[in-house]
Amino acid sequence: RSVLDQVLATRILDVLDYPKPGIVFKDITPLLGDPTAFGTVVGAMAEQVRASGATRIAGLEARGFLLAAPVALAAGVGFVPVRKAGKLPRATYREDYALEYATATIEVHRDAFVPGERVMIVDDILATGGTAVAAAKLVRDAGAVPVGLSVLMELGFLGGRERFAASAPDIGIHTLLLV
Ligand code: PRP
Ligand code: MG
Repeated sequence: RSVLDQVLATRILDVLDYPKPGIVFKDITPLLGDPTAFGTVVGAMAEQVRASGATRIAGLEARGFLLAAPVALAAGVGFVPVRKAGKLPRATYREDYALEYATATIEVHRDAFVPGERVMIVDDILATGGTAVAAAKLVRDAGAVPVGLSVLMELGFLGGRERFAASAPDIGIHTLLLV
């Protein structure tokens, strides 16, 4: 196992039956509280950004922000917040996506990107893929080119990779931890 795996194994906790019965919540707060582990993760994700040639990070509210902002700084590129509906003050593009028992909406400012620039989408977890698919559409709507999806953790059994690939076959998926 890699050093990264060893660090992460002890810094991400499984919380059973949260937020509801049958769900195993991945709690990254111990990772965030450990500067060695946090720095290892940010450094690895920043390396993916450099390799991709992305000139901007799109970070997904809320937990994605915790990784995306430091990754953007470490990689030396700008950060764009993709926010839940109603939070951005100026004109936006919107995208609806399905959750387990509801729908949600995310938004990005219309002028967030330089037209045609390469964007890395960053989030904490790829689960069903609904959030990532919606984010890639938003980046395209806003005139930029999503070149990668970078997540700390992928829950393989939920099929997010397949769903994302079906919607965006040209976008590489970078995962530090496959569960
Ligand atoms: C969680 C997680 C990912 C998303 C993954 O966010 O942070 O963004 O779910 O799930 P999916 O692949 O099935 O779309 P959530 O919207 O629950 O809340 P957050 O605001 O805490 O990030
Ligand atoms: Mg999230």
